[in-house]
Amino acid sequence: MLRTIEGLDVKGKRVFVRVDYNVPLDENGNIRDDTRIRASLPTLRYLLDRGAALILASHLGRPKGKVVPEMSLRPVARTLENLLARPVKMAPDCTGDEVKSMAKALRPGEVLLLENLRFHSEEEENDPEFAKELAGLADVYVNDAFGTAHRAHASTEGIARYIPAYAGFLMKKEIESLKKLLESPERPFVAVIGGAKVSDKIGVLRNFLDRVDALLIGGGMANTFLLAQGLGVGKSLSEPDFVSVAGEIMAEAAKKGKDLLLPEDLVIAAAPKVGEPPRVVPKDQIPGDMMALDIGPRTRKLFSTKIGQARTVFWNGPMGVFEVEPFRGGTLEIAAAVADVNGFTVVGGGDSVAALEMAGLSSKIGHVSTGGGASLEFLEGKELPGVKILEG
Ligand code: 3PG
Repeated sequence: MLRTIEGLDVKGKRVFVRVDYNVPLDENGNIRDDTRIRASLPTLRYLLDRGAALILASHLGRPKGKVVPEMSLRPVARTLENLLARPVKMAPDCTGDEVKSMAKALRPGEVLLLENLRFHSEEEENDPEFAKELAGLADVYVNDAFGTAHRAHASTEGIARYIPAYAGFLMKKEIESLKKLLESPERPFVAVIGGAKVSDKIGVLRNFLDRVDALLIGGGMANTFLLAQGLGVGKSLSEPDFVSVAGEIMAEAAKKGKDLLLPEDLVIAAAPKVGEPPRVVPKDQIPGDMMALDIGPRTRKLFSTKIGQARTVFWNGPMGVFEVEPFRGGTLEIAAAVADVNGFTVVGGGDSVAALEMAGLSSKIGHVSTGGGASLEFLEGKELPGVKILEG
């Protein structure tokens, strides 16, 4: 059983909240998508309304133990201030004497955001002394960083050994939604898996074969499946080392009587660039010097029809090079089909969530997961260290 903050007495207490504010920034340091910040608000507001002072901590990017100014959480403090409609103090670091005094001086209702945890290598090393120092800043620990729950780091796992630890509302909602997919999906259950690589998603594909009624595969990873069918994919992205795995997955699907749908036609071009004329070809006619960059209209229809018949849908990964305008049609059509489902839908992974946002469809999805890697590992059936430590 997950210990949650529901009903927890936090009046006059300093609460260390691990959030996942690993948000995408543009070249000017502006936040491109604040979904993860907004998703943390219910927990923050709940704790503040009950008289807590908050010490917020997150990583941003992968600075690998060094101070990288472009990966400062400072822009996040400003966004959070607007969303919470109250001041958010920015700490110069996440440990050290100055940070300790700032944390100590906090009054109920006040918020302090620590600087990027990964500026210290001890964070990813799950160093016990570092974890203890973080714990020393507060009376209670709350983890609402589902997106980082697959990492056993000092702020997601180690810290929970030193002060009472609880899950926030986002963590709880993520786990409940994903559990529902694994344990009690209404049928038909369709999973749509895209993105670049089969190698990233083997675990989830295999685990899903036992659970779904149909598996729809698109995006760069579909090319590796086409290779396994003996087709040529030209210059398309593919993973020749994983052709045999793709073949095994197809054979397993057939043995288990599950539908495994691959692209029937593709949008191809010489390169994934605006200005390269796109063209549609059947899957067995990709010329040697061209790349498959999106699913074609026949595939979109086939996939959308299957999705439309489902009562439960999980979608992770774009159907093509969705960042480049001429190759995003397939992904947007899948987004629309998932949004139209009469049933329970879950979408995870940065690009699929960005596609939903672009299409203005996020509010039509049952649960938009803030975790890419974390949601996939959960759905693979793996135990997440950041969740395990909050159980019992
Ligand atoms: C994510 O964006 O998936 C999480 O914030 C985890 O980040 P990481 O892959 O750098 O650990």
